[in-house]
Amino acid sequence: MASFTGTYKDELIATANAIAAPGKGILAADESTGTIGKRFAPINVENTQPNRVRYRELLFKTKGLGQYISGAITYEETLFDTATCGTPMVELLKKEGIIPGIKVDKGVQPLFGTNGETVTQGIDDLGKRCAKYYAQGARFAKWRTALKVDVANNCPTDLAIEVAAQDLARYARICQEAGLVPIVEPEIMIDGVHDIQTSVKVQEQVLTTVYKKIQENGVMLEGSLLKPAMVVPGVDAADKSDPTEIAQLTVRTLERCVPGAMPGVTFLSGGISEEDASIYLNEINKVPRKTQTRLTFSYSRALQSSCIKTWKGEAGNVDAAQKQLLARAQANGEASKGEYVPGSQPSDEESLFVKNYVY
Ligand code: 13P
Repeated sequence: MASFTGTYKDELIATANAIAAPGKGILAADESTGTIGKRFAPINVENTQPNRVRYRELLFKTKGLGQYISGAITYEETLFDTATCGTPMVELLKKEGIIPGIKVDKGVQPLFGTNGETVTQGIDDLGKRCAKYYAQGARFAKWRTALKVDVANNCPTDLAIEVAAQDLARYARICQEAGLVPIVEPEIMIDGVHDIQTSVKVQEQVLTTVYKKIQENGVMLEGSLLKPAMVVPGVDAADKSDPTEIAQLTVRTLERCVPGAMPGVTFLSGGISEEDASIYLNEINKVPRKTQTRLTFSYSRALQSSCIKTWKGEAGNVDAAQKQLLARAQANGEASKGEYVPGSQPSDEESLFVKNYVY
């Protein structure tokens, strides 16, 4: 194993631990220009740069957000943008005590030779870009690979998993050399009809492969974070599973496959509802564990859905939208300690769980 000798060692460890601080998690606000357009469309907001600035400014100026949010992931445009109030976006975050982060992958392309699987782009010039991002104030990064589960078509294939793991490990090492804490995101998408045991099997294979490559590349575990999906059944599965089972299998999978030296695991929400994302995280943090790795959130949709619907692009709705963001941030901050009372904060939709089960 090539051990890590980079100059930023102590800073990386400090940053990773600050992000995974008890009761806090990450606001993922790094939607690409295309993706934010999909979020704006239902509220009839045009996808222009000034509108993207107005929206991200709303998020980052939410008073008190730093109580529950330790880091915010930005898209490159936002990292270099200035808010309408004249303050650089990065400074707005720092004022709230939130560490600025940056999405460094360039999205996915087809992985030829497979049945619709993908490979993430952006490795070639990554070192140079990381230096630029660090100079602008970013202290952590995210790289997302996306793996789909489709049992009938043997997905994810060994090839897709190998390619994803290799790229994640190389990305992580490059980031650490440049002083950015890498968030390693091997997303397993929730689309599909597969049951939860299939998710367990896929997650175990993916995480084991990722951490083998991480070790081979000499990534310093103590200065990195993992961003997985929770172990959930496919969204169209016949058997929905309950939060207790999801929590137990998620914790078991992580303890089996992720080294205990990792300071934090920051789950993505992946399309589950705001309330379910909080309930699942809360249950996860109630499961007795052998390791001390902190288990928290790095949500985009599950933090922003009701906020953006409240905003609707109108200046007069900014306060109410910020209140809504703060409510979900608080819910998830409490859930990261296993202290969330389901339903105690407003959300955009009823929990699927609450509808079907007696909690
Ligand atoms: P969701 O929480 O909406 O899944 O987004 C998290 C993320 O950053 C995906 O890359």
